[in-house]
Amino acid sequence: MYKENRLTYIVNDKCIGCKYTDCVDVCPVDCFYEGENMLVIHPDECIDCGVCEPECPVDAIKPDTEPDAAEWVEFNRKYSEQWPNITIRRDPLPDADKMDGESGKFEKFFSDKAGEGD
Ligand code: SF4
Ligand code: F3S
Repeated sequence: MYKENRLTYIVNDKCIGCKYTDCVDVCPVDCFYEGENMLVIHPDECIDCGVCEPECPVDAIKPDTEPDAAEWVEFNRKYSEQWPNITIRRDPLPDADKMDGESGKFEKFFSDKAGEGD
């Protein structure tokens, strides 16, 4: 499904090292994609329903109407085209609770490697 100038939600770097996957469980269109230590949303597939946003325990999901969202939309697009689809919830990463609220996650911990998918 292709959309132009439509709204989407994005995952930001708060997800890095946590990957709780509560978001995956509720998405009606299965538009999450899995990296080694974070997820992203495909902006063309997201139907902007918003149900995933309150599910994330670390507040990593935002609508693209937020001030710094534009670069995150492009980031989510880029990696959703490289990483596999994830449609079922899994256990969070082992250090998820410790990584909650860590600063500078992108610079320190981002991995562009693909995750497992399902
Ligand atoms: Fe899925 Fe809705 Fe979240 Fe978009 S806003 S990723 S469609 S749950
Ligand atoms: Fe990441 Fe939050 Fe989903 S930590 S995997 S965006 S529930």
